[in-house]
Amino acid sequence: PMVEFLNFEVLEDHGWALGDEDLFEKAAEANLRSTDFGRFYVDPNDTLLEAAEKNGFAWPFACRGGACTNCAVAVVEGEMPSPASHILPPDLTEKGIRLSCIAAPVSDDAKIVYNLKHLPEVSELLL
Ligand code: FES
Repeated sequence: PMVEFLNFEVLEDHGWALGDEDLFEKAAEANLRSTDFGRFYVDPNDTLLEAAEKNGFAWPFACRGGACTNCAVAVVEGEMPSPASHILPPDLTEKGIRLSCIAAPVSDDAKIVYNLKHLPEVSELLL
C-alpha cells in the first residue's frame, strides 16, 4: 500500500482540523517539510511504524506492542484494520484512530495523520 502522511502537529500551526475534507489537498499546497508531509510504500509484512522507519522517518513510539498509544495515527482515507488486543477504547477506533506499531493499511492507498499522541483524547491515555 502507498501511504500519504501528514504530521498532526502541522494542523494546529495552520488552523486545520482532522475532519477537514480537503486536509491533504491543503497540506500538498502548503510547502511542508518532507518529514511533515509526504508518501511512502508499506511492504505487506510491515507495520505502518516499521514502514515509516524503513523510509527514514522517526515517528513516535514507545512500547511497540499496542499498550501505550504513543504511536497513534488517524486513518483519514483507506482501510487499516485494528487488531483486537490493544489499549485504544472503541470510541477512538470508531473515529479511525489506530496504533501504527501493530497495524498497517490494507488498501492500495491510504491517507494517514501521524503524531496523534498530541490529540487530547489520545494524550490522556498515554502511558
Ligand atoms: Fe505503544 Fe504503539 S508504541 S502502542
